[in-house]
Amino acid sequence: MKEQVKEDLFDKVVALCKRRGFVYPGSDIYGGLANCWDYGPLGSQLKKNVKDMWWRNIVQERDDIVGIDAAIFMHPRTWEASGHLQKFSDPLVDCRKCNQRFRADELSEDAECPAGGKHELTEIRDFNLMFETQMGVVKNETSRVFLRPETAQGIFVNFANVQTSTRKKLPFGIAQIGKSFRNEITPRRFTFRTREFEQMEIEYFVKPEQADEAFKSWVDTRFSWYKKLGIKESNLRLRQHEQDELAHYAKGCFDVEYLFPWGWGELEGIANRTDFDLRRHSEYSGKNLSFFDPDTNEHVMPWVIEPSGGVDRATFAFLVDAYDEDTAVSAKGKEEVRVVLHLHPRLAPVQVAVLPLLRNKPQLIEKAKELEKNLRKHYLVDYDDRGQIGKRYRRYDEIGTPFCLTVDFDTLEDDSVTVRDRDTMEQERIKISDLRHYLDEKLLMDM
Ligand code: GAP
Repeated sequence: MKEQVKEDLFDKVVALCKRRGFVYPGSDIYGGLANCWDYGPLGSQLKKNVKDMWWRNIVQERDDIVGIDAAIFMHPRTWEASGHLQKFSDPLVDCRKCNQRFRADELSEDAECPAGGKHELTEIRDFNLMFETQMGVVKNETSRVFLRPETAQGIFVNFANVQTSTRKKLPFGIAQIGKSFRNEITPRRFTFRTREFEQMEIEYFVKPEQADEAFKSWVDTRFSWYKKLGIKESNLRLRQHEQDELAHYAKGCFDVEYLFPWGWGELEGIANRTDFDLRRHSEYSGKNLSFFDPDTNEHVMPWVIEPSGGVDRATFAFLVDAYDEDTAVSAKGKEEVRVVLHLHPRLAPVQVAVLPLLRNKPQLIEKAKELEKNLRKHYLVDYDDRGQIGKRYRRYDEIGTPFCLTVDFDTLEDDSVTVRDRDTMEQERIKISDLRHYLDEKLLMDM
C-alpha cells in the first residue's frame, strides 16, 4: 500500500463504512450514542461471513468441537465463582479539574488537562467492568444480575450438560459466538473497544498433561486462520503476555495482534486457563464437574485452552487490511483513484454483481434479472443498472465485490457474459451455463 494511503487509512475506512453502509454511528438521528455502532446492510453481512467462516472452521469441519448458544444473563453466583465480581476491574482515576475519568495504566504522566496545566488526579481505585441490571419487577438483592463480560462462562456452566449429551471424551471443545458487555473506562477507536461487542470463543478441555501441547497447537491454528482469510502476514504478530498482565485465571497467554492504523492491537487471546473455572464452579455449585475417563476409570478435572477472539475487531481488521487505492483510467481516458477492498471472496458481502450494460433495453434487463435470480440461490448477489458501467465497477470495487458480470447485446446472441475481476480488472467471456462451475471455484474455495 502507498504511504499516503496509510497516513489517513483509519479516517478513510471509517468514512467508507458510513458511506457504503458497513457501519453507522449508533442512534445516529439522535446525534449518536457515544461509542455505540450499528452495522448496516454490508457490514452485517461481512460480520456474519466472519462468524460463519469461524464456525465452519471450528465446529463444522472438526469432530472434536461442538457449538452452543447460551443466555447472556447467568446466575449471579457464576460471577462469584469465575472471580469476575472480585477481580474483573481496571484501575480508574478521576481528574478533579476537568472531571474526566481515565484508566490509570493508559494515562501518560505528561498528559495535558483540558482545563489547563496538568491533571489533578484522585487515588487509583478498582472499577469493576461488569454491567449490572435488575431482573424481574421487584428490585432487591436477589434480582441483581449482570450482562456477561465474556461468553466463556456460558460454556463452563454447560460443561457437564454438553459432555453428557454428546458423550465426548477428552480432549474436546465447546465453541460459542455471542455478545459480551463491559463498562470500559475508555472505549475508543471505532469498533475496536466498545462496551457491547461480540466474541467467538472456544473452551478446549484436555487432560492436564495435554495442556502445553494443545496450547501451542491452538496458537498456531488461530494465527493461521487470519492469514488464510487474507490478512497480510506482515500485519500480524504473536505477543506473549508478561506475568503481570495475565488475567486472574490464566497461567499463560499469547495474543494474536494486528497492525491497526494506530499501531499493534489485540485481535484474539489464546490462554491456558488451567482447571480454574471448572474447579471453582464445582465448588460454588456443589456439582462435580470432573470428567470420568472410562479408559482409566479415573476422574480428571480438565484443563482448558481458550482461544478467544473479538468479532468486531476481526471484522474491522479485515476491512482495514483489504483497503487499497490505485489509479485506473476512466472511460473518458482520465486517470482516477480507484478505491478497492481486496476482501477474501468468502468474506465479501457481495460476491457477484449482475449489471445489464444499458438500463433502457428491456431484453437486457430481463436477461440480467433472470441471471441474478438464479445466482442468488448460491452466492451473495447484487444487481445494479444505474449509471455508466465503469462507474458501477468502481462502486463494487469499493465494497470488495470479487466479480461483476455484465449482460450486453452479445449475451442475447451467445448466452455469455463478461466477467470482470476486481483485483486484476481483467475481463473474460464466460458461457452462462459454465458460470456456476467458474464461480464455485473462485468464490467457495476451501481454506
Ligand atoms: N474469555 C476471555 C476473554 O474474554 P479478553 O482478552 O478479555 O478474553 C477476548 O477478550 C477478545 O474479545 C479480545 O481479544 C478482543 O478481540 C475482544 N474484546 C475484548 N474486549 C473488547 C471490547 N471492549 N471491545 C471490542 N472487543 C473486545
